[in-house]
Amino acid sequence: MQHYLQFKDFSADEYAYLFARAALIKKKFKAYEKHHTLVDRTLAMIFEKASTRTRVSFEAGMYQLGGSVVHLTTGDSQLGRAEPIEDSAKVISRMTDLVMIRTYEQTKIERFAANSRVPVINGLTNEFHPCQVLADIFTYIEHRGSIAGKTVAWVGDGNNMANTWLQAADLLGFTVHVSTPSGYEVKQSVAGLRSANSYRVFDDPLQACQGAHLVTTDVWTSMGYEAENEARRAAFASWCVNRAMMAAAAPDALFMHCLPAHRGEEVEAEVIDGPQSVVWDEAENRMHAQKALMEYLLLGRQS
Ligand code: CP
Ligand code: NVA
Repeated sequence: MQHYLQFKDFSADEYAYLFARAALIKKKFKAYEKHHTLVDRTLAMIFEKASTRTRVSFEAGMYQLGGSVVHLTTGDSQLGRAEPIEDSAKVISRMTDLVMIRTYEQTKIERFAANSRVPVINGLTNEFHPCQVLADIFTYIEHRGSIAGKTVAWVGDGNNMANTWLQAADLLGFTVHVSTPSGYEVKQSVAGLRSANSYRVFDDPLQACQGAHLVTTDVWTSMGYEAENEARRAAFASWCVNRAMMAAAAPDALFMHCLPAHRGEEVEAEVIDGPQSVVWDEAENRMHAQKALMEYLLLGRQS
């Protein structure tokens, strides 16, 4: 049994399979062709933080595969009344086939997985957001082909998305140019990297974007860090992806943002709503990529 708790849980070969499978699943979806590979399987979705895309993509995706879903939040389950995560894992995984969790510390999802009888998927933790980067790289491939050897510019917070991009670069052979304000840097130990060879740090976000094939960013304040909002607004003021940064990137560079976005903060409206932005494909591709992921975790490779 495999879990998907971090990007590095899969090999480059498994990603090649998943990207090809997601493309097939997407093609069938667009043609209104049934793809019922998970009939009678149930996905439990546990949300300890808010969500739009993750909820809709997993829920719609599971129904489209012929399965069903159970939706739990902290507020409407015993998770909010201090039932130990280990006990919750034992119970939930006896009644369902697959579990997706969005929570705070990575250690919490690891404890759940250690006590689960079924595969567990990380739907975002403070440290990682592997399903998002899975969809983002699938989107890059759709638009530009292989990401190997390319440069991705990360502008903004050294957060869960940044850590996940770094793991992906380490595994899939591309480079990340990281620019964060001082005090919000990525840490190799938190990112869980084998080496520092796949990323370079830049003080100036414009420099980080120079020649990049993909420019990407995220909110200045992630969920769970709201108390730092005011300090972050001041610290991040120069880390807004703007037209000058996109002009410094490669001429055919793409712009991505996992969403939700705040126009005028981490990105200018002209960039996110401009011709280089693929944010809507990125959001849609969450569903196609996660359908391939759920199928793979439950059935293995399909021919
Ligand atoms: N990108 C993403 O995970 O969005 P939600 O928070 O809406 O799920
Ligand atoms: N870094 C953001 C991503 C939201 C999808 C957060 O954790 O809130």
